[in-house]
Amino acid sequence: MTTFDWGDRLPVLETGRLVLRHLTPADAADVFAVFSDPEVMRYWDGVPMTAVEQASAYIAEIDEHLRRRTLFQWGVVERTSGSVIGTCTLLHVSMPHQRAEIGFALGSRHWGKGLATELVDAMLTFAFDRLLLHRVEADVDPRNERSLRLLERLGFRREGYLRQRYYTARERQDTVMLGLLRHERPAAS
Ligand SMILES: CC(C)(COP(=O)(O)OP(=O)(O)OC[C@H]1O[C@@H](n2cnc3c(N)ncnc32)[C@H](O)[C@@H]1OP(=O)(O)O)[C@@H](O)C(=O)NCCC(=O)NCCS
Repeated sequence: MTTFDWGDRLPVLETGRLVLRHLTPADAADVFAVFSDPEVMRYWDGVPMTAVEQASAYIAEIDEHLRRRTLFQWGVVERTSGSVIGTCTLLHVSMPHQRAEIGFALGSRHWGKGLATELVDAMLTFAFDRLLLHRVEADVDPRNERSLRLLERLGFRREGYLRQRYYTARERQDTVMLGLLRHERPAAS
């Protein structure tokens, strides 16, 4: 039986260019650089951070979620620099239904290099092969073309359009729901 018995730290996941690991208080400056970036926050739930203390509080929140097993958020470390350049998340994990939702963000300097595809692919391997999930979902603003391209490249299909699902500081936002079933995952990814 698969469980979330990972103790108080997330398992380390590795890809060619990235290491996905538990965030620590020492990562606050790097996390701030990602979540203070207006480009990153354009379609994210929340406004850009303005002080590094907000990143420290965010890391503490992430730890609390792990302790309660409500959400699992890894730091994404670039091997060449050793810096945290983003995060990726498994949330709404349901073992009875064998499904979870995925979320991800990289600092905008790191876009356009295939790094997000690499990290989401690693998360999918973890979700399907280690957690033995059957279905992974994503919830994306329809204007977030980069995210939609990435997910569709990895085999996700658009399954529904939900109008005005979020009310952010700026506006109401629609959502495209996407899903990937275990047997639909492209073999080459
Ligand atoms: C969504 C997000 C992670 C996508 O990042 P990204 O860099 O566009 O995605 P990828 O890493 O898959 O990169 C794909 C691009 O890299 C290029 N690329 C370069 N080298 C590559 C390689 N080795 N492998 C694959 N693609 C490569 C691809 O051609 C593609 O280019 P294109 O954008 O011109 O089509 C990023 O925009 C982001 O963090 N946004 C803010 C947070 C957010 O909105 N998250 C999603 C919430 S649902």
